[in-house]
Amino acid sequence: MTDKKNTVTVTDNASGKSYEFPVLGGSIGPKVVDIRSFYADTGMFTYDPGFTSTASCESGLTYIDGFEGVLAHRGYQIGELAEKSNYLEVCYLLLYGELPNKAAMDAFSDSITHHTMVHEQLQYFYRGFRRDAHPMSIMVGVVGALSAFYHDSTDIHDPKQREIAAHRLIAKVPTLAALTYKYSIGQPFVYPRNDLTYAENFLYMTFAVPSEPYEINPVIADAMDKIFILHADHEQNASTSTVRLAGSSQANPFACIASGIASLWGPAHGGANEAVLKMLDQIGSVENVPKFIEKAKDKDDPFRLMGFGHRVYKNYDPRAEVMRKSCHDVLKELDIKDPKLALAMELERIALEDEYFIERKLFPNVDFYSGIILKAIGFPTSMFTVLFALARTVGWISQWKEMIEEPKQKIGRPRQLYTGPELRDYVSMDKR
Ligand code: CMC
Repeated sequence: MTDKKNTVTVTDNASGKSYEFPVLGGSIGPKVVDIRSFYADTGMFTYDPGFTSTASCESGLTYIDGFEGVLAHRGYQIGELAEKSNYLEVCYLLLYGELPNKAAMDAFSDSITHHTMVHEQLQYFYRGFRRDAHPMSIMVGVVGALSAFYHDSTDIHDPKQREIAAHRLIAKVPTLAALTYKYSIGQPFVYPRNDLTYAENFLYMTFAVPSEPYEINPVIADAMDKIFILHADHEQNASTSTVRLAGSSQANPFACIASGIASLWGPAHGGANEAVLKMLDQIGSVENVPKFIEKAKDKDDPFRLMGFGHRVYKNYDPRAEVMRKSCHDVLKELDIKDPKLALAMELERIALEDEYFIERKLFPNVDFYSGIILKAIGFPTSMFTVLFALARTVGWISQWKEMIEEPKQKIGRPRQLYTGPELRDYVSMDKR
């Protein structure tokens, strides 16, 4: 017999019939109503566009409490990881579930380091793109193209091959991202260096030129590493759900990651960091802030404050706290007195005091600050979302791996509320 306390009863008021559904509990966080038999029992679908109340899967990777501002990977809170860990260790944690001991970390680090080069043939893909192509459009193409290089060696039902695919992605996406940047500015491609850390190697491949030595600034390398940690995973957001949905048909994992990159590109998701800088340009100066705050509040005006608000964080974004500090460190180290920072701080101050933003719990999110740091380091705005994609690759592939390893894994297949015409006869052209 089902324990009545762990069920939910739904009554169809048209027929008066009641149906009982089990309630499932996770380790922490809201419980879920298991409605898998809802259609079979009631003949109806549930309706939840935008998935505001729907858990699409079970996952042990990332926990978010949007009201308390908590983000944790495998139980470890993001602030602590950003302070004490490093990106590769967080990658290990997401992929394997535990923090590594020294031997495991060394082996993982060695494997990632030795997969950083990409097939020489991949360079020719770049030459097919216009130099002014948006870097995200190139990333969708070249990451998807990895499937052409590794399709035969990627049996997704073999755990070893899944692991190699994951390592290849974590290792090669920074190389592809740096090649994308180099191609856009017409500089020679720079090969990876195995003696550098993950973040240092990425900075080197991006900013070094063959004609002179490149010195790595440790403050910048540390900020880069923190940006990667803060973007590593974020539960079932649009791009991760896209990767899971694409992967649920058992498609090639490299192609699935390319689908995640496509989804991330939009300004409502990963494209927001680029949109923040464009918005600051549009606002222009501190005096114009009140006018733009009014525009953001006007429902007839499409303008929104980019870098504000979040679907799940309704108090503050814990990533934004770390990013805010890192932002100040980088600007101080580089001695940059960027008027955009003053503008951003004024915008933050006024918005946080405004009733409209308080009522709707709209706070600066991670992208509000990350754009300013990336600009200070020297990345063009069009590269910002590429860096997000680079960092999120580990989240996508870990979630993909978790899904494939789920024993009862099914292809994702949502239903719909059909609102089109009823069935009708074909009308020949002379009668239309
Ligand atoms: N500026 C002005 N008003 C806003 C904003 C904003 N940035 N965000 C939400 N609102 C208002 C919205 O108009 C609505 O008002 P009302 O209730 O009067 O109709 C209310 O707040 C709720 O907004 P919503 O669109 O229903 O909220 P959502 O959960 O669907 O959207 C969001 C979340 C992130 C898409 C949205 O806040 C937004 O567009 N923000 C700006 C873009 C941005 O910074 N995105 C990056 C998110 S962080 C990176 C990531 O994790 O991907």
